[in-house]
Amino acid sequence: MKNIVILISGGGSNMAAIVRAAQREGWQDRFGARVAAVVSNKAAAGGLAFAREQGIAAEVVDHKAFGSREAFDEALAAVIDRHQPALVVLAGFMRILTPGFVARYEGRLVNIHPSLLPAFPGLHTHQRAIDAGCRVAGVTVHQVTAELDHGPILAQAVVPVLPDDTADTLAARVLTQEHVIYPQAVASLLQKR
Ligand code: GAR
Repeated sequence: MKNIVILISGGGSNMAAIVRAAQREGWQDRFGARVAAVVSNKAAAGGLAFAREQGIAAEVVDHKAFGSREAFDEALAAVIDRHQPALVVLAGFMRILTPGFVARYEGRLVNIHPSLLPAFPGLHTHQRAIDAGCRVAGVTVHQVTAELDHGPILAQAVVPVLPDDTADTLAARVLTQEHVIYPQAVASLLQKR
């Protein structure tokens, strides 16, 4: 059985979308794959409760307990490696990863970013898209490389930016599409592996 490990920092709605898609579409039967663990850098991450309810191992590696990014990433990797994952999926995981961590999971580390990359890497993507006068915005699923929010693009979805949009209304419209394309992109990667 191939294992997927999902890393979160918050509500985990993308993680939940992937877990539900895996159940609905029978990933265990289709790809021999399952979501084996959800790991958060924050104990308060809302998504941990959902994972536990689903019978998925839910673990916390608190970044504040470590003196450097390298030490945190080592501890995180030790937890991830217990599950020997075929794919490590970043789903609203809000920590910058070290080049060593990225290299360790090369080719099996994916991220979702709420903009149409290469536009608007980094934070506050929705407000920046509105401020720039963009007529469309969207979301990108990409392979993770050492450079933040770069790496080969696997999937994108586009939504309109409406005249009255705030960062919150635009974020909600984009998030709906995230929940569609992230499970699809993960399934497509599992098919290839
Ligand atoms: C999502 O919009 C995701 O694209 C974004 O955080 C949100 C997490 O929501 N990720 C980033 O900004 C990464 N730089 P979720 O916890 O409900 O999935």
